[in-house]
Amino acid sequence: MPAILASAPGKVILFGEHTVVYHRPAVAVPVTQVKVKASILPGINLPPGKVQIEAPDIDLSVALDELDPGHPLSLAVRNVFRELSIARPPAFILRITSTIPIAAGMGSGAAVTIAICRAVSSFLGSPLPDAVVSRLAYEVEQVYHGNPSGIDNTVITYAQPVYYVRDQTPELLKVRRPFTLVIGDTGIQSPTGLAVRGVRERWEQDPGGYEALFDRIATVTRQARQAIETGDLPALGRLMDGNQALLQAIGVSSVELEALVAAARGAGAQGAKLTGAGAGGNMIALASPETAPAVAQALERAGATRTIISQVEPSKS
Ligand code: MEV
Repeated sequence: MPAILASAPGKVILFGEHTVVYHRPAVAVPVTQVKVKASILPGINLPPGKVQIEAPDIDLSVALDELDPGHPLSLAVRNVFRELSIARPPAFILRITSTIPIAAGMGSGAAVTIAICRAVSSFLGSPLPDAVVSRLAYEVEQVYHGNPSGIDNTVITYAQPVYYVRDQTPELLKVRRPFTLVIGDTGIQSPTGLAVRGVRERWEQDPGGYEALFDRIATVTRQARQAIETGDLPALGRLMDGNQALLQAIGVSSVELEALVAAARGAGAQGAKLTGAGAGGNMIALASPETAPAVAQALERAGATRTIISQVEPSKS
């Protein structure tokens, strides 16, 4: 049997992180410069049924049976066995590598699960359809993030720009004009579950105030969808700035994120904001192909540990 290879990209949320948990809309795009790769080799030298997992990035080399059943890698593999009703799998070696920063707002957890689901199901001769892959990844997210909205597994599974409202069928976004994003990493890890719980606690203290802020972010997000669909990039930049101010108001920004956002704007970005859970992780800036290198340089001077320039392309149809 030949080796199987599957991959899944990273993602950034352009608008509506956190409020998407509360059924407000969000917009997210894939980031293909970073990815998870999952490869499978038949375990010809392994005992029957043995599954060996190699994840060198996290120094893990372990048999599936020896891994805590609640470990995300175990959950990802076992979800596929359950879905395909596989009681005794053939022996195989699963190797996972990733260039997506961990706990940095770029969907690393969902991408790992999705790449594994695709590789394992293909190896077993029954590649799972996108909707099932996304659902299985959501189940793993639920164990690790408590109350995920489902946007990460959705945008990473479909690998296209999406407009997403929790519990509704995701809509693919029609991108009218290409735009350039510069992504800057604070280098500070920020687990999503923690940041989501922080917002929940503050919302519980002041539900009226937080609901009003959530509604304002929802309005910005709907306007942003229109700006993307009509190709109004100056409006898109202004809306990013508006979303950032509201994210600050709900307490998920940080000194480091604010420094990067200010540096990007100072270097000519049309707008900038944090992306994902916040409190660390990454921020994004709207630039043009011409200004992007200067924005990236300014971010590095302001402390970004890594920058990525990513182009969002117009939709094909
Ligand atoms: C995480 O990438 C985005 C959050 O909105 C959480 C979620 O949607 O589940 C912070």
